[in-house]
Amino acid sequence: MPSPLFKCENICKQYSDASNTLQILNNVNFYISAGETVAILGASGSGKSTLLHILGTLDTPDSGDVFYKEQSLFTKSKRQQALFRNAELGFVYQFHHLLPEFSAAENVAMPLFIKGDNRKKSLVRAKELLARVGLQDREQHRPHQLSGGERQRVAIARALINQPAMIFADEPTGNLDDKNTASIYDLISDINKEFKTSFLLVTHDLQLAKKMDRIMYLENGQLRLMEHN
Ligand SMILES: Nc1ncnc2c1ncn2[C@@H]1O[C@H](COP(=O)(O)OP(=O)(O)O)[C@@H](O)[C@H]1O
Ligand SMILES: [Mg+2]
Repeated sequence: MPSPLFKCENICKQYSDASNTLQILNNVNFYISAGETVAILGASGSGKSTLLHILGTLDTPDSGDVFYKEQSLFTKSKRQQALFRNAELGFVYQFHHLLPEFSAAENVAMPLFIKGDNRKKSLVRAKELLARVGLQDREQHRPHQLSGGERQRVAIARALINQPAMIFADEPTGNLDDKNTASIYDLISDINKEFKTSFLLVTHDLQLAKKMDRIMYLENGQLRLMEHN
């Protein structure tokens, strides 16, 4: 087997307050290969977002480590982690997190603007990606002028702009109707085939999770493979 793109080893995470301790992740071991698509299912509050954030270096485990192409991520400095995220990862959330005062094209180009890339070239690239997600006629629209499904397409285009090896998507269709949900999953599947982008997708929807290569189930702080056909 080729070495995994991401691997996490013995990830533990707990939250404590004055009265009790919640062990959210209890020795989670997991890998994802380059080009693979994986769904994570689990009840609300089971720790799916926490795990996704730790894998993406947006949160820190109490113990354990995450390896990207065999390189430890939690021995890196915060600055190195930020550079790593910007270069290698894309994120898509349930609530699109688009900037309201910017157009669709500017939102997609934002990661390049932040890096200091040429503005004009960044917008050309952003418009290519908007066309790729079916929004060639919406370049100048602000987020409030777009439907929920269109906003998620913009968020996916933005996640793609740095040609990431991996996209983390946390309930990206949580706010969409069935038709838009299905079309977002088709888009994910097409992007995976076309760009070989890996996807780690948190969802509530078993039918849609079944479209991924593998389904994992998070329960009692542990991740297990879910058999499906
Ligand atoms: N910063 C925090 N402080 C205390 N508890 C938290 C914090 N973040 C998450 N939790 C708790 O951890 C559990 C898992 O949260 P989360 O990963 O968001 O679950 P999921 O995404 O599966 O719904 C929840 O019970 C939540 O209340
Ligand atoms: Mg969550």
